[in-house]
Amino acid sequence: MFASRNSLKVAARCFSTATPQQSKVAVLGAAGGIGQPLSLLLKANPRVTKLSLYDIHNTPGVAADVGHINTLSEVTGYSAKDQDGLKKALEGAELVVIPAGVPRKPGMTRDDLFNTNAGIVRDLAQACAEVCPKAKLLIISNPVNSTVPIASEVFKKAGVHDAKKIFGVTSLDLVRASRFIGDKLGKIVDVPVVGGHAGITIIPLFSQVKGLQLTNEERDALTYRVQFGGDEVVKAKDGLGSATLSMAYAGARFADSLLRANAGEEVLEWAFVRSDLFKKEGLEYFSTYVKLDKNGVKEILPLPESISQYERELVEKAIPELKKSETKGASFVA
Ligand code: NAI
Repeated sequence: MFASRNSLKVAARCFSTATPQQSKVAVLGAAGGIGQPLSLLLKANPRVTKLSLYDIHNTPGVAADVGHINTLSEVTGYSAKDQDGLKKALEGAELVVIPAGVPRKPGMTRDDLFNTNAGIVRDLAQACAEVCPKAKLLIISNPVNSTVPIASEVFKKAGVHDAKKIFGVTSLDLVRASRFIGDKLGKIVDVPVVGGHAGITIIPLFSQVKGLQLTNEERDALTYRVQFGGDEVVKAKDGLGSATLSMAYAGARFADSLLRANAGEEVLEWAFVRSDLFKKEGLEYFSTYVKLDKNGVKEILPLPESISQYERELVEKAIPELKKSETKGASFVA
C-alpha cells in the first residue's frame, strides 16, 4: 500500500489498506515534538493526498524534510512569518490535527498547561471556524478535558458548531493500556478506555478484555499505570517534554480511522466527544465508544453493561473532575 517496498513498515502497520481518496490533512504545531513524527506518519499514509504543516516557526524545514518521503502526497509548510500562513494551511482541509502548545515538565499536571494552551487552542480553533468550518478537528493539545470544550465554544460563537466533528484525541491511553496488558497476555489486544484524558479521568475497562484475569492488586496497579503513564515519560525525559513518539503513533492511528470513515467505511473508535451519556450529571463531554462515518460521529455507544463495580466507581469519581475541566474551558471562551 506504500509507494515502494522500502517505505516505513512500522508506519504501515497502523494504517489500513488504501482506496483512492483525496484528503487534505493539516497539522497545527507541526514542528513540535509530536508534530514532526505525526507529520511523518501522515506522509506515509496513502489516504492523505495533501499534507499541510503549520507552526509558528521551523515549518519550512520540516515540510522540506517530510516532503522527500516517496509517497505521492503533496506537502506544504506555512509559518506565522507569513501573515496568511495559518489561513493557507487550513484552506480545503478535511482533517485538522492540533498538537500545538506547551508540554508538561516533571511535577506538572495537564491542567497546569491551561494558561498557555487555552489561548493557543482558542485562536487556532477560531481560524478553523473561519476557514474550514466543516473540517474534523482532532485536538491533542492538553488539557484535552478543557481544550475540547474551548474549541466547541469557539465554533458555537462563530455559528458553525457541529459536535459530530470535534474530537479530543485519547488514543494514547488506549495504546498504553493495550501495551501494558500485552505484557501480561503475551499478545496485543484492544483495551477500552473511557472518561477523559487526565489522571483519574482516564478509566481503562479491563473487565472487557476476554480471557484477562487480574488480582485486585494487579488491576489497581495497571489502572494506575494507564492513568499516570504519561508521568513515566515526563519523568524519563527529565524536563525535555512529554510523550511525543507514542502520541504521534496514536494520533496518526486516530486520523487514519477518520479518513477511513470519510471514505465510507463504518469505523469504531474511542474519542472524547460531546455526549449525552452523563447529561443527567451535568456533563457534556465524555470519551467512549463512537461509531464514525463520513460526517464524523454517527453514534455514541453507551458504556458496556458488563463493566465491573470497580470501574463504575472510577467513572463516578471522574465525573466531578471532568465537569470542573469542561466548565473551566467553556468559561475561558465565554
Ligand atoms: P512541543 O513544545 O514539542 O511542540 C509544540 C509545538 O507547538 C511547537 O513547535 C510550537 O512552536 C507550536 N506552537 C505553539 N504555539 C502555536 C501556535 N499558536 N500555532 C501553531 N503552533 C504553535 O510540544 P509537544 O511535545 O509536541 O506537545 C504538544 C501538546 O500535546 C502539549 O500540549 C502536550 O501536553 C500535548 N500532548 C497530548 C497528548 C494526548 O494524549 N492528547 C499526549 C502528549 C502530549
